Amino acid sequence: MSKKAVILNGTPRLKKGNTIVLVNWAHELLKQVGWQVEQHDLYKMDFRGCAHCDMCKKVIDKPGCILNDDFNSVLQELSDADLIVIASPVYCWSVTGSTSSALDRFYALFKNNVSLIKGKKLLGMFTSAGDAFEGMDLCVSMLKQLCKFGGAKYLDTVVAISCTTQEELLTRAELKRYLEQVIMGDAK
Ligand SMILES: Cc1cc2nc3c(=O)[nH]c(=O)nc-3n(C[C@H](O)[C@H](O)[C@H](O)COP(=O)(O)O)c2cc1C
Repeated sequence: MSKKAVILNGTPRLKKGNTIVLVNWAHELLKQVGWQVEQHDLYKMDFRGCAHCDMCKKVIDKPGCILNDDFNSVLQELSDADLIVIASPVYCWSVTGSTSSALDRFYALFKNNVSLIKGKKLLGMFTSAGDAFEGMDLCVSMLKQLCKFGGAKYLDTVVAISCTTQEELLTRAELKRYLEQVIMGDAK
């Protein structure tokens, strides 16, 4: 059975943006190595962050979130995935609002003594206008904390700093090669 990857894409700029370049590369490469890939463009979806009702803590074998919105079915996909890819531009020294709301919802995957993302791999992909220390660093450390808490393995980070245009980013062949190595390495 083929392995499953879920890509949570947090950029609002789906056509001429920067992050979408990394997302498209990752999606294509994962497909090439035979993975089943689900991509969710978060900005287009209708969902909110966690309401902290704690209803999800009453079930341990499934997410059990009672918010009836576009992210609900994604939670089940996340708990069935082998690899979770989080992609976002750096916004105000953090991830975008829709990425942040999606990550809030991971709360439903963390039960009292059980984590539904335990043993899964997580790949972070970020783009920024600034350097690595103008928010990118905080995004990476946030994802590492999430993995530590949830017993997931932080696979790697693929970042494009000092981004200008999509055309310029598309010329960064070394970045695509790096992503290829990460994905091929993981696919083995
Ligand atoms: C609202 C907003 C906030 C931003 N904040 C930061 C920031 O804190 N640090 C940084 O390096 N770049 C910041 N940027 C620049 C974006 O991270 C950068 O342009 C990114 O590549 C955009 O990705 P996209 O084309 O996928 O939207 C910000 C851009 C916007 C629109």
